[in-house]
Amino acid sequence: MKQLLIVLSLLLLAGTAVVVHDVQAGSDAEMLYARCKGCHGADGSKPQDGHVIQGMSVEQLEETLLGYKNGTYGGKKKAIMMGQMSRLSEAQIKSLAAYIAEF
Ligand code: HEC
Repeated sequence: MKQLLIVLSLLLLAGTAVVVHDVQAGSDAEMLYARCKGCHGADGSKPQDGHVIQGMSVEQLEETLLGYKNGTYGGKKKAIMMGQMSRLSEAQIKSLAAYIAEF
């Protein structure tokens, strides 16, 4: 009985660790997105020069965002987005893409 309790508490602890980790990853991207909200809206539905980011796939988001960072993508207002992306690392851009794709 005592052993069973030990096993159960270990399982519980392991479960909690996984949940805490997920929340942490989510809030990082959420913090990064805070500075995009003003232009794109809290759920990405606000058009910016005809671009709506809500509904874009992870692949499209990574491609466009990395493209702004590297100067290989963009329309006539790309300078705005290049400024936004130049300060972010590739890893930060990927986590942002995964976050926005869930909108
Ligand atoms: C000052 C306003 C502004 C801010 C802040 C801003 N954006 Fe943008 N975003 C734009 C504009 C304008 C465009 C269109 C640029 C162009 O002509 O290529 C755009 C384009 C995009 C696109 C490409 C959409 C497409 O269909 O090609 C993505 C993705 C995007 N923004 C994500 C973000 C993310 C993520 C952030 C925050 C890190 C952010 N934006 C911050 C104004 C903004």
